[in-house]
Amino acid sequence: MCGIIGLVSKKEVSSTLLEGLKRLEYRGYDSSGIATISNEKIERVRSKGNLSFLEEKLLNSSLPGNIGIGHTRWATHGSPEEKNAHPHITDKVAVVHNGIIENNNQLRNQLIEAGVEFSSDTDTEVVCHIITSYLNTGLSAYDSIRATMSDVRGTYAFGVLILNEPNKLFAVRGGSPLAIGSANNENFIGSDTYSLSAYSDNITYLKDGDVAEIENDSYRIFDHSNSLVEREKQSIIESITLSEKGIFKHFMLKEIHEQPEVIAKSLSNYIDMDNGVLNIPNLPHDLSTITNVTLVACGSSYYAGLIARDWFEKFTNIKVDVEIASEFRYREAPMASNGLTIFISQSGETADTLAALKHCKYLGQKTISIVNVGDSSMCRNSDASLKIYAGPEIGVASTKAFTCQLGVLACLAIKIGTSNGSLSEYQEKEYVKSLLSVPRLISNTLDKEDEIKNLAHDLSNITTTLYLGRGQMYPVAMEGALKLKEISYVHAEGYPAGEMKHGPIALLEKDLPVFIMSPSNNLYEKTVSNLNEVIARDASVILFTDKEGLDNIGLLKNKIKAFVLDKSDIISAPFIYTIPNQLIAYYIALLKGTDVDQPRNLAKSVTVE
Ligand code: M6R
Repeated sequence: MCGIIGLVSKKEVSSTLLEGLKRLEYRGYDSSGIATISNEKIERVRSKGNLSFLEEKLLNSSLPGNIGIGHTRWATHGSPEEKNAHPHITDKVAVVHNGIIENNNQLRNQLIEAGVEFSSDTDTEVVCHIITSYLNTGLSAYDSIRATMSDVRGTYAFGVLILNEPNKLFAVRGGSPLAIGSANNENFIGSDTYSLSAYSDNITYLKDGDVAEIENDSYRIFDHSNSLVEREKQSIIESITLSEKGIFKHFMLKEIHEQPEVIAKSLSNYIDMDNGVLNIPNLPHDLSTITNVTLVACGSSYYAGLIARDWFEKFTNIKVDVEIASEFRYREAPMASNGLTIFISQSGETADTLAALKHCKYLGQKTISIVNVGDSSMCRNSDASLKIYAGPEIGVASTKAFTCQLGVLACLAIKIGTSNGSLSEYQEKEYVKSLLSVPRLISNTLDKEDEIKNLAHDLSNITTTLYLGRGQMYPVAMEGALKLKEISYVHAEGYPAGEMKHGPIALLEKDLPVFIMSPSNNLYEKTVSNLNEVIARDASVILFTDKEGLDNIGLLKNKIKAFVLDKSDIISAPFIYTIPNQLIAYYIALLKGTDVDQPRNLAKSVTVE
């Protein structure tokens, strides 16, 4: 999703802005640009495609100036071309924008009628022209920005340069995140903590309606009613080294390997290790009286919710619904009056999930968000939030955040189960024991990386595939298919194994690879029946199971490729079976030569509907 960086300094800023843009790359983008003020002029350089093209252009055209804004664009209004890349400028104003202006068409038509000529298809250019028109009436820079905010409808964060205020950077927040980071004699703005963490050890998040006037040695924030306000300064706790690739070729691979450590760290925040019981901070809800649980999320976070449904149902005896945020928010589903709704999100900024959260608050639901980014909008808008402590996840494909979400969801399910009397103390300890074994079991699975790499090698030419599973393995299968799709661009479908015969079986043909996830549990025999259906149609089965599972299929093992994982239970299975799927997707993508960390068209944090 679009990323903003800005800097006001005593030194030249363009090279630092470029570095800042590199830290925004992981969010996903298709073009980029930088604008500065120098010699009483706004100058800009923009480019379509990878940042290296912008870097090359900057080598040839120096961009002087001590104040500037930069942007990575993920196309919404207008195709990914240079003319649509930000910053958008007039002779007096430069603007970078993250979000969507919903009344763009109406405003654009009004401006065209007033004689304005547009040079892009973007909604952002509209903003640029409106600010300019207010400046032309004699309003101050601040008042022009405020007036523009009243005209536009939508979600936005803006970084703004105004030519007649050449020492002030303006930062505006109206629904999309934006923060200020300060260092010695220079102040930054950035879309997220990561973009600012290289330059500043503290961060101040703007609130909706805020406009900040930022100079190199100070800044002032005004709230929606134009009152000067203090916003909390938070320290940037996640160190930069955590976010570097180290020995790994890609962030995704690094993040896959970090899982044992970060899951252990995450669990240590919610488990009393000495006594093997939960230690969840006090929540502002009486968990013993909850009658319904709804889990709401998008993408991988939604699959984490589907996996967790089994835990919530089994441990709490409460009815559980799992909802895709973009569908749920418009469905107007009735909600139980004493219901708890849990929002799951790595970024905490996903627009649909955030809108669903606001909707649920309006309906009087109790709300908890499970997020990775602790100071995110979801965190701030819910009654309580439980951080997953995965550390910065840079690869667009979610890996460690997904498994850390599972860990926290399992803790919360156990907690509600013990609070409402569905689980005994003994059961709590048994499930906690199982959770604590997860980091070790993931390490064991990662030790088999070479085997998975070889498997991926054999599969490098596939064009389509199925992932099958039952129970919790069904969402694990969907997550596996999503990983493969998003980073290798191979068509993949995750399906409930028992449903296959109701349609997808028609797809089976000789050598079609079919991944089947099945630990030896109560669903194993049923899944083996489905496996037989696949073999009978000459498709090629890759079975993930444990030793007992493999032993149980006798001679059938000669007809399939089997991959043996550790023995698991209802808690540990989804974690263990997720790992090979992550590695398969990674190694197939590597062989295909795709952009693993920043796959085409995708954004790390989807802040538009
Ligand atoms: O930040 P969120 O967890 O709310 O993001 C939700 C999805 O956009 C995200 O999980 C997406 O599906 C990932 N690319 C999956 O790898």
